[in-house]
Amino acid sequence: MAIRTIREYGDEVLTRVCKEVKESTPRIKELVSDMFDTMYEANGVGLAAPQVGILKRIVVIDTTGEDPHVLINPQILETDGEQTGYEGCLSLPGKSGVVTRPNYVKVRAYDADLKEYELEGTELLARAICHELDHLDGHMYVDLVEGELVNNEDLNREQDTEE
Ligand code: NI
Repeated sequence: MAIRTIREYGDEVLTRVCKEVKESTPRIKELVSDMFDTMYEANGVGLAAPQVGILKRIVVIDTTGEDPHVLINPQILETDGEQTGYEGCLSLPGKSGVVTRPNYVKVRAYDADLKEYELEGTELLARAICHELDHLDGHMYVDLVEGELVNNEDLNREQDTEE
């Protein structure tokens, strides 16, 4: 188990286009395992390899804490619908912003053994897939935010008041 350092917004590595993974190696498997450890430790639901400084097309996602997915060389096959809601990123801690994403996503990817599979997601999983795949092309959600970024503390206060 190893926790890697999460690169933050403004780091040039987060603006680069990542390279395809050509073969499954012990190093790739170790990276995937470290990415899960790093994501869980930071209480995130997704993490892309460039966020730990590695320019490879690898993403890990777990939106429930019991549903881990590794997506290598992922490609979106289909999207449907729309959802608008708050989104955050481990590379921009403490902030959120409103982003519109598809409500359904179907993606083809490879697992850590480079075995091809398909994954379908709705709601948070669809949002996480879109968010993480954007990282592989050097894009961050801040460019898609409608309105202003907000501090999570203010957001929590707002939600408390609503209840
Ligand atoms: Ni992110």
